Amino acid sequence: MSVTTLNEFIIERQSDFPYAKGELSRLLTHIGVAAKVVNREVNKAGLVDILGDAGTDNVQGEHQKKLDIYADEKFIASLKASGECCGIASEEDQNIVTFDENLPRQGKYIVSMDPLDGSSNIDVNVSIGTIFSIFRRVSPVGHKASMEDFLQEGTKQVAAGYIIYGSSTMMVYTTGRGVNGFTLDPSIGEFCLSHPDIITPHSGIIYSINEGNYIKFPEGVKKYIKHCQKKDIPTGRPYTSRYIGSLVADFHRNLLKGGIFIYPKTAGYPSGKLRLLYECNPIAFIIEQAGGKATDGRGNRIMDIKPESLHQRVPFYVGSRNMLNKAEEFMRKYGDKEPDIKEFQ
Ligand code: AHG
Ligand code: MN
Ligand code: MN
Repeated sequence: MSVTTLNEFIIERQSDFPYAKGELSRLLTHIGVAAKVVNREVNKAGLVDILGDAGTDNVQGEHQKKLDIYADEKFIASLKASGECCGIASEEDQNIVTFDENLPRQGKYIVSMDPLDGSSNIDVNVSIGTIFSIFRRVSPVGHKASMEDFLQEGTKQVAAGYIIYGSSTMMVYTTGRGVNGFTLDPSIGEFCLSHPDIITPHSGIIYSINEGNYIKFPEGVKKYIKHCQKKDIPTGRPYTSRYIGSLVADFHRNLLKGGIFIYPKTAGYPSGKLRLLYECNPIAFIIEQAGGKATDGRGNRIMDIKPESLHQRVPFYVGSRNMLNKAEEFMRKYGDKEPDIKEFQ
């Protein structure tokens, strides 16, 4: 049986971009390489102490490092080495990362990323991920990247994707021509095309939200959750609640099966928790390319929001089109104002 590897696929699809000279392809290839390196460390996470004890001479620094810092360093190094990326915004870095060397300064792209998403799940062997979002720079080539390169609307993304380190490791990405998923075959060390042209169902039966925050949710969200728990929804049975606490894993499941993921504003967090640049925008690009929707719950498309700062948060509603429309109907009817934090002090 013939397989298509990620690298073969990227080269094949390069002709989708007549203006491009293979630069974006090189960038995506480098992301794939960093993903494999991070995957190796993620797989060993439970062994870190054992390895540390066994070989204190040659096991230094790196193994002890928190995995999200390790992932941050590996992705930055790989993006820089590609020569196509002139700047990076990362959840792990307060400011944008720019380069003094000439090669990366010639790069035409910038990348925003969450190097390790769901990191509270590392210690308990639950799926985690990496999320990335790629833009063409607006600052002049040959100079350092600037803040305006990163504060572009999500509609300007040229590619976005995620890696899920789960029961198997996958890379899912879009360049605006549909969504494709690749599964890492550990025996040959290659990502292989396993999920071509992913389309998300228009309706699903899964709702994903941290219900521990229920009393802090806006009224519209509370009422929508009750709707999900009723029997009179189209399936004739309640929806199923699924929440892992890793956005990538929760989203990936819902993308394939159909569902809705919500991280709304809550009392004390008027913009919710998730970050626009490197969590919501890339996921929004993927869901739209797969036929779904991503909004802030008030009818505003996530990718239309003009970012004002690097680590800006936004309420996030993402998933199957019909479920999104229904949730927004509830928000309009019952309101999206979060309760006053004083009620909980
Ligand atoms: P990160 O590990 O990158 O900080 O992201 C964690 C995020 C996201 O993955 C997940 O959807 C959300 O936090 C879960 O938050 P709650 O624990 O508040 O539900
Ligand atoms: Mn995250
Ligand atoms: Mn993270």
